[in-house]
Amino acid sequence: MKKYKIALIKGDGIGPEIIDEAVKVLDSVASCCGFDIAYTEAFMGGCAYDITGDPLPQETINISLSSDAVLFGAIGGEKWDNLPREKRPESGLLRFRKELGVYANLRPAVVYDELINASSLKPSIVKGVDLMVVRELIGGIYFGEPKGRDENRGWNTMVYTRDEIIRIAHQAFKIAMTRKKKVCSVDKANVLDVSQLWREVVIEVSKEYPEIELTHMYVDNAAMQLIRDPRQFDVILTGNIFGDILSDEASMLSGSIGLLPSASVGAKIGVYEPIHGSAPDIAGQGIANPIATIASVSMMLRYAFGEIIAADKIDSAIKRALSEGYRTKDLAQYDAKEVCSTSEMGSIIANYIER
Ligand code: IPM
Ligand code: MG
Repeated sequence: MKKYKIALIKGDGIGPEIIDEAVKVLDSVASCCGFDIAYTEAFMGGCAYDITGDPLPQETINISLSSDAVLFGAIGGEKWDNLPREKRPESGLLRFRKELGVYANLRPAVVYDELINASSLKPSIVKGVDLMVVRELIGGIYFGEPKGRDENRGWNTMVYTRDEIIRIAHQAFKIAMTRKKKVCSVDKANVLDVSQLWREVVIEVSKEYPEIELTHMYVDNAAMQLIRDPRQFDVILTGNIFGDILSDEASMLSGSIGLLPSASVGAKIGVYEPIHGSAPDIAGQGIANPIATIASVSMMLRYAFGEIIAADKIDSAIKRALSEGYRTKDLAQYDAKEVCSTSEMGSIIANYIER
């Protein structure tokens, strides 16, 4: 029997609750599809800082690198907001991405028909939206040097090298080949030199993908177009900070940030996590929506292991739970037949898989 080694990083806030449900669903799909999972738990974020004084202990990196994939919940919370920057949970996460070399962050935004009323946009605008933000994750202004601050100035540098742009562009084009074959590269080439290089290199790489329709958009216009007519997009290729912003914006098309998964991939290993944060305000109450994390398990099966049947089973079980009217509290006012807890939602989805 095939066996996959998974590093489990639950993190802070609602992280542990939603990961437990993802594990429940993964176990049930594994037994249906005939593979085995071995979990090793590792710590990152505020909980790791509390125990070790470091939001990203070396052991977490080691466990992750010796696994086949990482399943990650969420980190952070007010409790750690006043720590010096390098001790903060977010710094641990950024270092984690860098150490694992996960340069491509894939963030799909899909509108489920069942939840079309949950979107803050009109159903006629969002119906059928199915796009993917491909965000460069370990370069750009998040990591560029020089950076620093003194009493009166703070500075960061947005820098991309040709090689960094080439590898993320390939990712976007490859993903687009499995979708509608459209890539919109988002930059600010009318103002930024780094974006000019970005655009030139993306055009070069696109020559290897003659079937792809490549367009370019300035980031301000892209922010506007996402709201005006989101269905025009298939794959959005962009840098680190623009992708951070646009993926949050795109997530709202679907109505709840609690629905959307993500994958961060590179040459070595992938990290699969919900796009939402640790929501400390609702932690421990059993009301968090586990669907984004469960959908992240589906991305893991699809992209890391090629277990397409298992991934499809999870996706259809999620759709079924929604179409039967099961809702966690965040979506309770949208056509709910039954409001369920975090763990009930996990069990419902797991049961659909087993049947
Ligand atoms: C995200 C988050 C992170 C980011 C933060 C927590 C560092 O917003 O994953 O989008 O900016 O990348
Ligand atoms: Mg973000």
